[in-house]
Amino acid sequence: MTVKIAVLVSGRGSNLQAIIEGIEKGYIRNAAIHVVISNKADAYALERARNHGISAVFLDPKEYDRAGYDRAILNVLKQYDTDLLLLAGYFRPLGNEIIEVYKNRMLNIHPSLLPAFKGLHAQKQAFEYGAKVAGCTVHFVDEGLDSGPIIIQKCVPVLPEDTEETLTERILEQEHIIYPEAVRLFVEGKLKIEGRNVVFLS
Ligand code: GRF
Repeated sequence: MTVKIAVLVSGRGSNLQAIIEGIEKGYIRNAAIHVVISNKADAYALERARNHGISAVFLDPKEYDRAGYDRAILNVLKQYDTDLLLLAGYFRPLGNEIIEVYKNRMLNIHPSLLPAFKGLHAQKQAFEYGAKVAGCTVHFVDEGLDSGPIIIQKCVPVLPEDTEETLTERILEQEHIIYPEAVRLFVEGKLKIEGRNVVFLS
């Protein structure tokens, strides 16, 4: 059985690209991205999707109220019979209905070692805080902000010569490794949620 994936994006889409390549190279088997949805018309992620023959949908937030926008997303997800929903640089709060419908089958990537530095500009937060270790996290999405059960984390040391930009770049390199890895584990049915803990089944 093929796991049908949808990805929500707002911008550049480098994590989307890493997952597309993971599928195309056979690292993630039995899965396909069926649709990429953006809240920004000019998101480069939409172009990346089209380049790989994936449906790219722009939903304009200006055309809906909050609840209507969520319903519009859910309609597209339903239309593509989505099994797994991925957030990959999606910078808009999600409504509870989507979170409820995709409970335990929605993942997000966040550029910090959660629960530190939730929310926007996590790399900047870590840099300015003077953290010696930064990193990234793939987690299940729940109702809270960047708060769902953690699947994989990767540490990135903050070097004395780092700027916010160089740190962000090195974190991103690790994101491109752990997001495809988490998707692969999900698709292979190897993730089991036990309370806050995600157990890896063999
Ligand atoms: C990444 O740093 C991701 O962790 C965060 O937003 C950024 C998205 O980058 N949630 P991209 O669009 O995947 O290139």
